[in-house]
Amino acid sequence: MHVLGIETSCDETAAAIVNKNRQILSDRILSQIDEHRRYGGVVPEIAARSHLDHLSLLVTQALDEAGMSFDELDAIAATTGPGLIGGVMVGMMTAKGLALSTGLPFIAINHMEGHALAARLSEGLNFPYLALLVSGGHSQFVAVAGVGDYRIYGTTIDDAIGEAFDKTAKILGLGFPGGPAVENSAKHGDPSRFSLPRPMHGRPNCNFSFSGLKTAVRRVVEEFKGKLDNQSINDLAASFQCAAADCLADRSKQAINRFGNEFPDGKTLVIGGGVAANKSIRTRLKQCVAESGFQLAAPPPKLCTDNGAMIAWAGLERLRLGLIDSLHFPARPRWQLDARGAKDHR
Ligand code: KG4
Ligand code: ZN
Repeated sequence: MHVLGIETSCDETAAAIVNKNRQILSDRILSQIDEHRRYGGVVPEIAARSHLDHLSLLVTQALDEAGMSFDELDAIAATTGPGLIGGVMVGMMTAKGLALSTGLPFIAINHMEGHALAARLSEGLNFPYLALLVSGGHSQFVAVAGVGDYRIYGTTIDDAIGEAFDKTAKILGLGFPGGPAVENSAKHGDPSRFSLPRPMHGRPNCNFSFSGLKTAVRRVVEEFKGKLDNQSINDLAASFQCAAADCLADRSKQAINRFGNEFPDGKTLVIGGGVAANKSIRTRLKQCVAESGFQLAAPPPKLCTDNGAMIAWAGLERLRLGLIDSLHFPARPRWQLDARGAKDHR
């Protein structure tokens, strides 16, 4: 069983082929970072055009790299939301067109489902498990009981954590993309130098809040009247990263408690999404889940940030259950992960 996966929901154009033995036969990805850098963020219109310019070639390259032709594939999967709608349309319509012309089934994938199932591709993890999905657009805990069987425990009440990293990078003048820039700067900084808030700390729910943390960083910069020396920038980046990691650890304890009550067989917290590529956050979470008797499963960074393999894999998981979709399936800029059950595959 082989599935081609297409991902175009943000600023990565990606196409990959996986098989049922959890092998990634090809994994083509083109980052648009250079096209968006001068705007300091992703420009939706530029992203959509760039996906359109590059996706066909990436699909051809994915087939070549896997040494396969369309007639050796079993399905074509694409992200149909949530995300920037122009980009989602490009990937989804390409997949539908290919499905129509080859006669292969089309499978619609929720981008967050791709992140949630990536650890089954890389680690071969069994259900159920708890997933912490932390990206540029989302911060959420999801109890993953099976394919299409997701329960959202909590989400952010304001900014997503990746957004907080990106905005902090901008405030500190570290450039774009923000997450890796903050992580690099933080390596040379003292995380105890600035005292920053830990929003939601100790609250008896699984929600997040990151906007106050970002504002606190801005206040420190204002106190310095914008004249932070390099060491202070590194110290502030490290203090921010440490506070963000503390928030994730505190919220994870709450989510693990609830998950432990509802799914006594599950003992794993999976992290996914771009922010899960952050080494210091991984280390902090590893220590925190161990204290709760859980283990941390983290796909390799390449599978944490947006990629085609996770979409191909989610497609394969659905195909195995016979969950294919009609070519009328809509593109959805917003799409809650728990909004479609395993049987809802219109
Ligand atoms: O999952 P992803 O690739 O795209 C979305 O679906 O949003 O996540 C991108 C987000 C960005 O906010 C980026 O700054 C953040 O993940 N990110 C990181 C790191 N690498 C990417 N944040 C912190 N540390 C990193 N190393
Ligand atoms: Zn993502």
